[in-house]
Amino acid sequence: MSRNGEPLPGTKPLPHLAVVGLGLIGGSFAMGLREGGHCGEVVGFDLDPRSRELAVELGVVDRCASSLAEACQGADVIQLAVPILAMERLLTELARLDLGQSVLTDVGSAKGNVVRCAREQFGRMPPRFVPGHPIAGSEQSGVTAAQSTLFRRHKVILTPLEDTDPAALALVDGLWRALGADVEHMDVRHHDEVLAATSHLPHLLAFGLVDSLAKRNENLEIFRYAAGGFRDFTRIAGSDPVMWHDIFLANREAVLHTLDDFRADLDALRAAVDEGDGHTLLGVFTRAKAAREHFSKILARRAYVDVMHSKDLIFLANPGGSLSGQIRVPGDKSISHRSIMLGSLAEGTTEVEGFLEGEDALATIQAFRDMGVVIEGPNEGRVTVHGVGLHGLKAPPGPIYLGNSGTSMRLLSGLLAAQPFDTTLTGDASLSKRPMNRVAKPLREMGAVIETAPEGRPPMIIRGGQKLSGMHYDMPMASAQVKSCLLLAGLYAAEKTSVTEPAPTRDHTERMLQGFGYPVQVEGSTATVEPGHTLRSAQIEVPADISSSAFFMVAASIAPDSDITLEHVGVNPTRTGVIDILKLMGANIELINQREVGGEPVADIRVRAAQLKGIDIPEELVPLAIDEFPVLFVAASCAEGRTTLRGAEELRVKESDRIQVMADGLQALGVNATPTPDGIIIEGGSSLGGGEVWAHGDHRIAMSFSVAALRATAPIRIHDCANVATSFPNFLALAERAGMRVGVEDNS
Ligand code: S3P
Repeated sequence: MSRNGEPLPGTKPLPHLAVVGLGLIGGSFAMGLREGGHCGEVVGFDLDPRSRELAVELGVVDRCASSLAEACQGADVIQLAVPILAMERLLTELARLDLGQSVLTDVGSAKGNVVRCAREQFGRMPPRFVPGHPIAGSEQSGVTAAQSTLFRRHKVILTPLEDTDPAALALVDGLWRALGADVEHMDVRHHDEVLAATSHLPHLLAFGLVDSLAKRNENLEIFRYAAGGFRDFTRIAGSDPVMWHDIFLANREAVLHTLDDFRADLDALRAAVDEGDGHTLLGVFTRAKAAREHFSKILARRAYVDVMHSKDLIFLANPGGSLSGQIRVPGDKSISHRSIMLGSLAEGTTEVEGFLEGEDALATIQAFRDMGVVIEGPNEGRVTVHGVGLHGLKAPPGPIYLGNSGTSMRLLSGLLAAQPFDTTLTGDASLSKRPMNRVAKPLREMGAVIETAPEGRPPMIIRGGQKLSGMHYDMPMASAQVKSCLLLAGLYAAEKTSVTEPAPTRDHTERMLQGFGYPVQVEGSTATVEPGHTLRSAQIEVPADISSSAFFMVAASIAPDSDITLEHVGVNPTRTGVIDILKLMGANIELINQREVGGEPVADIRVRAAQLKGIDIPEELVPLAIDEFPVLFVAASCAEGRTTLRGAEELRVKESDRIQVMADGLQALGVNATPTPDGIIIEGGSSLGGGEVWAHGDHRIAMSFSVAALRATAPIRIHDCANVATSFPNFLALAERAGMRVGVEDNS
């Protein structure tokens, strides 16, 4: 039954398909279904006799009918693939025929017009008419250009109406899927607006630009010097003029709407050029570049928003290996976030070097771009932030999406609480489960108006225009995010704001505020800011992230014969708990060339393999190593004897419940690991087996199990690893360079 392809599993071939209009789209539809064996007979019809002949010769259809009535006779599905303005006449003729139970569908690029014509001709929209639009095609046209694979991995939008027959919809949907298309359903009006903006407007601009330039007297001269940019921008001006003239007439309303919006933006650009307003130009261009990069990822199906949650990225970590050489891990995540936030609120231009180009920090950049800040880069870790001052942020055009980044959401909530505009902060599935009451509650005490989803989960809706009062806050938990949030809100409060922490937490906000010339008083465990000062732009050099370095510190400690140096690592004393804990376990770690860079202590860290021993982790070190516990649990599994962690309940509300998720994974590898409400007990010393573990979308869990493989007896498959890109985008490349045997599982 199948000629060239396989029928869709579980579907019966359609006995009789009629395709009216044998151009590129109609021809490809017919040919794909025919070759795939999805139809008993494919009958074509076209007004042009030559197209009919060619369609049979090229195997596009089984046969051609000599009239529309003959083609439709007994057809189960009739595909209308004629130019959009020919549709009205075709529908008039169809309305006169007895179509029996045939399902009608079409491929027109604008849907409102087709539905309107069908209503006029049939008296109502026939329930068995399923309007459709394949987003595929090329500058080529005609039946000779038909290809059976044209729709594979292309989007097809079906726009059923309320009373469309569900069986007819399912049938048409199934045919497109049989051709390998990604089918989506959409409302007619929405379809026409989306297409007007993303397809029709660009075509209008391309045709218009080429014509406008060609008309000028010196046109030959202009085209002689036209370079790649002109060629790329105007490629689509080579499309079929008749077809496009049809589309603009058919989708008039939606096109006018999007064209008017664009004209206003173009006028603003014109004014900026006229007035020599480079700041506006840079703003438009940097935002466009970032948006274009984001779209490219979507187009290549690599969008971080999408792929991470729809596709399981599996790391395969092979056993054994030892680490050597010198590596520099990417920039510190906490400092990268703060450089954008404070740089945006400063007056003047802040230059950042060593910025972490991971998705969390990029989400912070995007948030400030959304609020009107011009930010250039990142480019090889360099970012230029054109600060707008404490009162210069603008209302974002919509909700601010912060991906996986808890730090972005918590710190931003503080500085947004006092802005004159409303904001909504949203995040991915993991962030949407994390507790925000820890910031919302004290911010409300300062006078902020904040709504959250039940139990204080995101999204956070922050109402603007509030007057904040200063306050003293005794933090119930040791959290740098809460402390930073309140200090940032304090910049806008009427009186001074002070925060006392129950244990020392990272102090990058305090240090960086001072680096920007904003006074912060730190006395013991209390930090205080007063309103009324300004931030002045600064130069920031972001050191390598000690949290990312920690994976290599543990890796080199547990893998026999290792000797590795980690360069230029930030060793702020509020972050070095991991070094202290590893040293207590007997690790061989040396800090070399200690120096201070831009207000933050930095060192090179040499780590050599050592026999580790289990310990009771001192509770005062917990906040100083808060992000490093997943990999410390791996160290504990390889150490002689028992390691006990207490006082670390915070680990349960990180990107995942890190106590439970690590205990589950370690147990799967044969380690005796017992979770407790606020920590874990690990019996180390016996060897690790291989197996399947789940990272639950938590970057640090994924990297920790990659490290575990160094001492495993068989490969470890780690599921759900895509979020490694949030903090350590080049982890796999650096791990391989250092001597680890971990990569993406090839499941092609
Ligand atoms: C961070 C503080 C810590 C840490 C997070 C980054 C920061 O969170 O876990 O990765 O940049 O302030 P908590 O403050 O919630 O402990």
